[in-house]
Amino acid sequence: MIYLDNSATTKPHKEVMQTFLTVNEQYYANPASIHAMGVESNELLMRAREQLADILHTDAKSVLFTSGGTESNNTAIFGLARGNTHKGKHILTTEIEHPSVLESVKQLEKEGFEVEYLHVGNNGVISLEELRVKVRKDTVLVSIMHVNNEIGAIQPIFDAAKIVHEKSRAAFHVDAVQSFGKLPITFNGEEGPDCITISGHKIHGFKGSGVLAFRKQMQWEPYAFGGGQEFGLRSGTVAVPQAVALAKAARMAIETMDVNAAKFRKWHDEICAELRSYGDEVHILSTAEGAAHILSFSVRDLKGEVIINALQKRGVIVSTSSACSSKQTKTSHVVEALRIEEHFKNGVIRISFGAHVIDEEIAQFKLVLKEVLMELKGELLR
Ligand SMILES: Cc1ncc(COP(=O)(O)O)c(C=O)c1O
Repeated sequence: MIYLDNSATTKPHKEVMQTFLTVNEQYYANPASIHAMGVESNELLMRAREQLADILHTDAKSVLFTSGGTESNNTAIFGLARGNTHKGKHILTTEIEHPSVLESVKQLEKEGFEVEYLHVGNNGVISLEELRVKVRKDTVLVSIMHVNNEIGAIQPIFDAAKIVHEKSRAAFHVDAVQSFGKLPITFNGEEGPDCITISGHKIHGFKGSGVLAFRKQMQWEPYAFGGGQEFGLRSGTVAVPQAVALAKAARMAIETMDVNAAKFRKWHDEICAELRSYGDEVHILSTAEGAAHILSFSVRDLKGEVIINALQKRGVIVSTSSACSSKQTKTSHVVEALRIEEHFKNGVIRISFGAHVIDEEIAQFKLVLKEVLMELKGELLR
């Protein structure tokens, strides 16, 4: 199978699996225990924190291990909003965030917070002007994703952070699940993000592992109560093997970022050129300015599942616009936000590259795609 659904999840690197196995076999003691074996586990955990802190330009005490992107986003949103009600109850986010952000802010709305959504243009990018107008003195939290998981649009998070910090005392959270290891993303002193979400399984690490990192100590309301682990923010015995494996996957992602980015850009451009040759029967939702590892397109009046099944029969795995909504029949909120023609709304397909994809697979994919489109659309494309 040619696996081109790496934004849904990735295959763990062999080196990451080996790390996981070694830590499970040799350092299984509880890192909170005071005996020698516990101390050893804790040292390993601290090293994993330090490695991630170095990559993100923060300190080790600001790296919190979680069970993934969803938990990191929930922790940031609930923790920062509920912990700062003395500053205000206004929250800003975008209309194309991942459901783990959108559903969290909807929940906060029920608790009396006021939530406003930034719109995106047909390139999927927010307007900094709209952000400037909407940030208020009583804004407590702004949450903007770096790379959109359905179309790959990149948000100007560093410019956005400056505006947020200039105009408010709000915390600025960035969901970097789809950008970490693909684009540079670090804390950038006073001017950058305050808080960043990362997920292990999107970078050839494990499902059920994630990080919420912050730039400085902030006022939080804990998310999980209990034994006080993870600086009192997330109680529960820390999963040391997951944490160490995530640090390994993160290091590998950063070391290979430039090489992979060049490959992904080349494939993105080649496939786009192919898609453009079908004229106005195909609509490309991703733009050349977007992230190179995600490419979304739609075929006029075709259903996404039909294309997916036809590709699958020929050995290629892709998904509809997002893995989360792919089992739902309604148009995704991201596709709706782009205000594309009705004819293209049901056929959005997402191809996403990962570190294990090779040139030959992309060449084969292009042949298969042509075959499938000819079969499904026939004369219209000739
Ligand atoms: C942008 C974005 N944020 C958050 C998540 C959730 O991450 P996880 O699957 O680790 O909970 C995803 C997963 O698809 C995502 O793409």
